[in-house]
Amino acid sequence: MANKISKIGVLTSGGDAPGMNAAIRAVVRTAIYYDLEVFGIMRGYAGLVEGDIFRMESKSVANIIQRGGTILKTARSKEFLTPEGRQKAYNNLKKHGIEGLVVIGGDGTFKGARAFSSEFDIPCIGLPGTIDKDIDGTDFTIGFDTAVNTAVQSIDRLRDTADAHDRLFVIEVMGRDSGYIALHSGVATGAENILIPEKKTNISEVLTSLSEKQRRKKLVNIIVVAEGGDFGAVELSKMITENIPGLEVRVCILGHIQRGGAPTCMDRLIASRLGYTAVECLLEGRNNVFIGIRNNNLHYIPLNKVTKHEDGVSDEWLKIVKILAS
Ligand code: F6P
Repeated sequence: MANKISKIGVLTSGGDAPGMNAAIRAVVRTAIYYDLEVFGIMRGYAGLVEGDIFRMESKSVANIIQRGGTILKTARSKEFLTPEGRQKAYNNLKKHGIEGLVVIGGDGTFKGARAFSSEFDIPCIGLPGTIDKDIDGTDFTIGFDTAVNTAVQSIDRLRDTADAHDRLFVIEVMGRDSGYIALHSGVATGAENILIPEKKTNISEVLTSLSEKQRRKKLVNIIVVAEGGDFGAVELSKMITENIPGLEVRVCILGHIQRGGAPTCMDRLIASRLGYTAVECLLEGRNNVFIGIRNNNLHYIPLNKVTKHEDGVSDEWLKIVKILAS
């Protein structure tokens, strides 16, 4: 393996996602295995601009594989969006002799890396880390599996109380513009309806189906709503209450609870594999790609080809939802 670089940096940026720590650990330990010096950059691009950079050792990442959040912290930096901010960031990297960067985050993080690497001679490798699973070209993003399992556990609990009281629960989950958390958690919990941004909501269909359920005394219902969809949970519950008197409706917005917690085994595995591969990429001289996993194979997608959630949700899944959620 051609070892052209000797010092690398790693950062996490954008919304934190469970498994980011496992990815940091893999980057640090793999770098050390290959005799590289590795530096942690605090608070994403903000720390890069401010020079908040420190040398990491193997023990810096001890006992973190199971922890949610990110030991490097994260931020959304406005200054890095400017050429002046990126120049400062470059100067700070040069000061430490850092020759390659691993950036862990979502679409916004990759955009930053793309701008940076087009202006300066610092190769950047992106690892998809977001609970939203909204990056095309990869079957997995670090954090999605944990977030969706947290949603599943919460919805199961809500169904217990819904069942006890014969109530309808409208549950809003995260995902920004993506409906994957809603779709997966909704199918896995047997939700009676799932509303996602990828499919326009036919509100009269939703109301008619609920009226019909009320008529046949099926009063326990779960509707999972993606936050980026046509209707928020509060709005939808109001419409249901106004249009279907007699239905007892409650709302639960799961919110940031979905971002925390110990990463699942799946997220730890993905993060470890991606973190290890990122260092190999830098050593092989790969430049400005993000690493995706498709059908269990690694893919290297140029950062300038990253698209955000244009793949959409397959028609088959939409059909499954319709058939099972009746
Ligand atoms: O991108 C991750 C995410 O949790 C989205 O699902 C959500 O819309 C957003 O971040 C929330 O952002 P913040 O933590 O800044 O409120």
